Amino acid sequence: MVLNSFLIWVFVMGFCSPLAEGEIGVNWGTMAIHPLPPKIVAQMLKDNGIKKVKLFDADQSTLSSLAGSDIEVMVAIPNNMLATMNDYDAAKKWVDRNVSVYNFDGGVNIKYVAVGNEPFLSSYNGSFINTTLPALQNIQKAINDAGFGDRIKATVPLNADVYNSPSSNQVPSAGRFRADISDIMTQMVNFFQQNNAPFTVNIYPFLSLYGNKDFPIDYAFFDGNSTPLMDNGIKYTNVFDANFDTLVSALKAAGVPDLPIVIGEVGWPTDGDINANTRYAQRFYNGLLPRLARKQGTPLRPNIDLDVYLFGLIDEDAKSIDPGNFERHWGIFRYDGQPKFAMDLSGQQPPSQLLVAAKDVKYMPEKWCVFNSNASDLDKLADNINYACTFSDCTSLGYGSSCNGLDANGNASYAFNMYFQAQGQKDMSCMFQGLAVVTTQNQSTEQCSFIIQIDSPADFHASVHLFNLALLLFTVVVLMF
Ligand SMILES: *[C@@H]1O[C@H](CO)[C@@H](O)[C@H](O)[C@H]1NC(C)=O
Ligand SMILES: *[C@@H]1O[C@H](CO)[C@@H](O)[C@H](O)[C@H]1NC(C)=O
Ligand SMILES: *[C@@H]1O[C@H](CO)[C@@H](O)[C@H](O)[C@H]1NC(C)=O
Ligand SMILES: *[C@@H]1O[C@H](CO)[C@@H](O)[C@H](O)[C@H]1NC(C)=O
Ligand SMILES: *[C@@H]1O[C@H](CO)[C@@H](O)[C@H](O)[C@H]1NC(C)=O
Ligand SMILES: *[C@@H]1O[C@H](CO)[C@@H](O)[C@H](O)[C@H]1NC(C)=O
Repeated sequence: MVLNSFLIWVFVMGFCSPLAEGEIGVNWGTMAIHPLPPKIVAQMLKDNGIKKVKLFDADQSTLSSLAGSDIEVMVAIPNNMLATMNDYDAAKKWVDRNVSVYNFDGGVNIKYVAVGNEPFLSSYNGSFINTTLPALQNIQKAINDAGFGDRIKATVPLNADVYNSPSSNQVPSAGRFRADISDIMTQMVNFFQQNNAPFTVNIYPFLSLYGNKDFPIDYAFFDGNSTPLMDNGIKYTNVFDANFDTLVSALKAAGVPDLPIVIGEVGWPTDGDINANTRYAQRFYNGLLPRLARKQGTPLRPNIDLDVYLFGLIDEDAKSIDPGNFERHWGIFRYDGQPKFAMDLSGQQPPSQLLVAAKDVKYMPEKWCVFNSNASDLDKLADNINYACTFSDCTSLGYGSSCNGLDANGNASYAFNMYFQAQGQKDMSCMFQGLAVVTTQNQSTEQCSFIIQIDSPADFHASVHLFNLALLLFTVVVLMF
């Protein structure tokens, strides 16, 4: 009896969470060698007035750090779990353990479940084509069965390559879903429509530029005056609008012209490619954010309050660089939660509220590992640099990147230091067969940052354990109920 009234109170409180339409959201990825403690990141979100966050999993320590805040959360099921979710019982279990369990006063304000992450990317060769839609259906059903269907929606963050215009007629109004997945996409968007769930798409003007030498650079930004694309009298001056409206046309052709669209990822990287730098990132955001603030929309969907998640919050130095070296540099904050440049998330121009840095970040001692200029046997230098870069992040050394100007010794020092920092500055990690030495002299240059990695504070684990204990108790209660 007591338990039952407790639960009723808990669930009623859960339903009262306010929604944060139109506020800028961010993607919080955690693929870092030394990730910032979730508690520090959660505080950083609050300090910056960020009210929406998109995750790539349902990690307990991440979610527990968001508990008690009103921050709206999109949790996610990774692609490699999609096949499992084709079984309704597994989907129900996932929802019980990773969604329902957080629905209590002081819990987590979950709004969306992302089913997969860009599962139809052509580079996956169709691996997830057959499992994504059934997983989506099962997850939404499990959410509905748990009683949260009115306010928690399952969606699928899709890459913009699920739609295109025919090569003979490259205009947004000719947009259609990709021929090989057109049936599945039509079923999927109709399912979203029936459930009042949005279509989620990731749009990357940077990648349009990166993938195409002939791409007019101004067209990647919002202040461009390169030759506009004309489409039935509509003038497109930037690829973001053109891409978005290609999707709008594809949705219309699939019979759901008014399906809401969420931008799951949009942003610009700051290193790792000739076009990935702070200057361009700032130019991109200076165009994007004010447009969002004034609810400009696009030619085919004017005056809408777009739901947008920037990609990303923090640099992730452990991400795969298959897409390119820039992949580890998408953050609006550095690896340590320091803002990279002046940026006003509320879209004010010129920026008036700058980003607030992470607080209470603990760094390791001010020690760097560098090339030993007295070393005589240089035969093994290349192998050692290779080794260092295999187990750390040397993406800033490449062509067009921030540390590309270093000389050969500088390159070696950079690689050795990245490895040394990644290894937590262990003495053994600055040997490199006598080619390296530890120094307390800052090796950074104006362009190139020789970092000191962050330390993982001990107290963070303690608080996670406490929360997990509370969670465990709650799980027991829910299961009894
Ligand atoms: C909950 O999510 C986590 C992280 O994504 C996953 O590892 C775990 O298997 C999920 N739980 C269930 C019961 O599926
Ligand atoms: C997709 O196919 C290409 C070419 O056959 C192959 O190189 C790549 O490894 C495949 N990728 C996946 C994820 O299976
Ligand atoms: C998906 O299903 C189709 C039709 O049954 C089949 O031909 C194809 O091989 C399946 N793809 C995968 C990746 O399992
Ligand atoms: C290199 O040798 C010189 C002369 O012996 C010494 O002063 C210097 O400290 C050495 N440098 C390093 C990095 O060991
Ligand atoms: C330093 O390393 C980068 C990346 O491997 C390379 O492009 C550059 O040529 C190197 N510089 C020197 C002077 O060896
Ligand atoms: C090293 O120098 C750079 C550039 O002057 C500076 O930004 C950085 O904070 C310094 N690092 C430390 C640990 O003092």
